[in-house]
Amino acid sequence: MNSFQYKDGELFCEDVALKKIAEELGTPYYVYSAADLRTQYHNFYNAFKQTDRLICFAVKACGNIGVLALLGSQGCGADIVSGGELHRALKAGIDNSKIVFAGVGKTEEEIKYAISSNILMFNVESMQELDLLNKCALELGKKARIAIRVNPNVDAKTHPYISTGLKNNKFGIPAEKVKDDYIYASKLKGIDVVGMHCHIGSQLTEVSPFHDAAEILLDIIKDLRKKKINIKYLDLGGGLGITYKDEKPPSHAEYAASLAEILKGEDMTLIFEPGRNLAGNAGALITKVLYTKDTDEKHFKIVDAAMNDLARPSLYDSYHTVQSVDETEKTVTGDMVGPICESGDFLARDRKMPDVDIGGLYAIMSAGAYGMTMASNYNSRPRVPEILVDGENYHIVRRREIYSDLTGPERVPEFLNKK
Ligand code: LLP
Repeated sequence: MNSFQYKDGELFCEDVALKKIAEELGTPYYVYSAADLRTQYHNFYNAFKQTDRLICFAVKACGNIGVLALLGSQGCGADIVSGGELHRALKAGIDNSKIVFAGVGKTEEEIKYAISSNILMFNVESMQELDLLNKCALELGKKARIAIRVNPNVDAKTHPYISTGLKNNKFGIPAEKVKDDYIYASKLKGIDVVGMHCHIGSQLTEVSPFHDAAEILLDIIKDLRKKKINIKYLDLGGGLGITYKDEKPPSHAEYAASLAEILKGEDMTLIFEPGRNLAGNAGALITKVLYTKDTDEKHFKIVDAAMNDLARPSLYDSYHTVQSVDETEKTVTGDMVGPICESGDFLARDRKMPDVDIGGLYAIMSAGAYGMTMASNYNSRPRVPEILVDGENYHIVRRREIYSDLTGPERVPEFLNKK
């Protein structure tokens, strides 16, 4: 499903004209479709009908509390990697018993916050972390439920920056070593061993790495069972890809089918942590053309959004489809660039794109995941608003930042304060 469609030559998100939002709120802005978020969530969830399952949305992909509340209202939980993300999930009303906590560098403060919040489980990434978790739980007079994140050494065949399940990555504990660690964990008084976790990478476009990883984990689970360690939750992480350009990622049904055989007869709750797959294509970044420029070499569209708003093209050289908000047959080949003082500030490069003139609008598609969450204030650019469209209504789920937001937390030191 894609709720970004042209109607009478104008791009809409569901039943709201993107131009209307621009006129009322200015540009740039992020816009998300509530219908697309709901549909993706339910499609994912329903594909795994055969088993108990829980979908924990990866907050890092799109942490807006309006979006989280929407997903939470559908029954979705949260995959978090920091105290800040826990705060967001709880604030959005996500059920604490549906929250899982990953990350290689959880601090004592974050651990205590999560134990006190009674989250479903910690996905533990090292033995040092496990010991700290045990200590914190005992101090709080509680037990911490844990899964150990297994590094299965499976090649996710994705961008190296977002591949996480290989031996040379910093994540998890090697599959060969993890059994001993489970035995150790099961003896700790503050620890309740409930699950096993892996996350092998992001934007996967094949099912085989998921299948291979699940097989490796299941072998370990069977071995542990002989040692009376029972794994109730098998958390396979996120990573299912989306189409940005012409990728053909597996459907939810194909993903489910690839696991069906190995999981047959297993009595466990499956957990998935999709981020991009739920939110990526449910969002777009809308930007206005400020100027156009022609050099001997190139045509430039200088727009009001920049790498601080959408970092993915600069960071990973990633491709986001560019559409004009007013439908046009005219095309031009060039770069779409922002106002930031760096040549790396591009949103599209050497791209054949609709030819939009000064004052016209572009929609940068597939920006719902790792868009706003990776935005910064670089060049002291206030961060843009986030809009949630639902049918014929739109809701401002984050207002545009103003200049005083930039300097709000800062202070001129006393010794420089002139009386
Ligand atoms: N679970 C864990 C433990 C993760 O580390 C991640 C993503 C996910 C779930 C969600 O993965 P997804 O379903 O979204 O693929 N900034 C990069 C992506 C980084 C992903 C990091 N971990 C990008 O813009 O492509």
